[in-house]
Amino acid sequence: MNGRPLLNRRLDGLGTTIFAEMSALAAATGAINLGQGFPDTDGPEEVREAAVRALRDGRGNQYPPGPGVPELRTAVAEHQARRYGLSFDPDTEVLVTAGATEAIAATLLALLEPGDEVIAFEPYYDSYAACIAMAGATRVPLTLRAPDFRPDLDALRDAVTPRTRLLLLNSPHNPTGMVLNPGELAAIAELAVERDLLVVTDEVYEHLVFEGEHTPLISLPGMRERTVAISSAGKTFSFTGWKVGWVTGAAPLVAAVRTAKQYLTFVSSGPFQYAVAEALRLPDGFFTGFREDLRAKRDLLAGGLADAGLTVFRPQGTYFITTDIAALGEKDGLAFCRSLPERCGVVAVPNAVFYDDPEAGRTQVRFAFCKREEILREAAARLSGLGRG
Ligand SMILES: Cc1ncc(COP(=O)(O)O)c(C=O)c1O
Repeated sequence: MNGRPLLNRRLDGLGTTIFAEMSALAAATGAINLGQGFPDTDGPEEVREAAVRALRDGRGNQYPPGPGVPELRTAVAEHQARRYGLSFDPDTEVLVTAGATEAIAATLLALLEPGDEVIAFEPYYDSYAACIAMAGATRVPLTLRAPDFRPDLDALRDAVTPRTRLLLLNSPHNPTGMVLNPGELAAIAELAVERDLLVVTDEVYEHLVFEGEHTPLISLPGMRERTVAISSAGKTFSFTGWKVGWVTGAAPLVAAVRTAKQYLTFVSSGPFQYAVAEALRLPDGFFTGFREDLRAKRDLLAGGLADAGLTVFRPQGTYFITTDIAALGEKDGLAFCRSLPERCGVVAVPNAVFYDDPEAGRTQVRFAFCKREEILREAAARLSGLGRG
């Protein structure tokens, strides 16, 4: 093998995801896992039953159609219309994917050439860096800074160069909980039009906004023909293992993404696609109830973390709370997270791994609150000893 590293150089340094490391640590120590963002309760019973029915009725047990089953594509289009007043043709403007993760990968592989630049908020969701690298493109970070993590729009404008191909945006934003406001959305849309940029929006937390509301960037003037909007069922319906996601956008963009997607998984999650079609049609009360439930959990954990002596940056959306541990006399989030299970039986994730410039997030640590109330109370009780050394 000529001494050449096995892993190709594009993936060099990407290693194991922090979620795998921290979830393994939780399993090994029996600690409460507030690291990885998955709920500890499954979603609505009727949605689970819909999946069982599809399995039994033989719907989706064989390869579903490449773009996704028509029932789900129609349900996605109806959801976008009902919720945001957006109109998409289910046949040409909706594509079902293996979670948002595949949608992100297929979109970036489809739209990028080696040498292109992609501007993305940092801290990043970790698959962005990997997919940009796999496409041979270069990531250009726009750093979101505590305490409110608002994007610096002047810095964004300055970051655009003739090589910039696309803006990769995530709102509600993981891990900071920042939700883009109407002024920011308008400024970003204006810049995208002026500099003729493509935009990819990761909206997997669209139903988890506690302050303000979620507005898809694709709904703004000039955005329809240049935006690929991505979402998925995992977070909204608490079935993260089903991996059903989707892309919506203008037909030429969706066709490009479909070309890449067909050589990644081709298709996935057959029976679950039918169940998610039913989930998307749940009454508004489901979505409001889910949001209010998570809001209460956010407040519960935020209170516990503050009582434990951490600085809490209250999220406007998502199911994560970013904190700062400097007030505890701690200097390094990664070391802190590696020792936390032993010290008090809780697992969290260091935000520094989501930055190109780890200094920007050195003392930030993320906790997930998509867990049962009693678990959050227990975690808060365990963490309360921290300040006492
Ligand atoms: C911002 C963001 N995008 C995408 C995903 C992945 O979504 P899916 O599970 O649908 O692939 C996640 C999951 O944590 C996420 O936080």
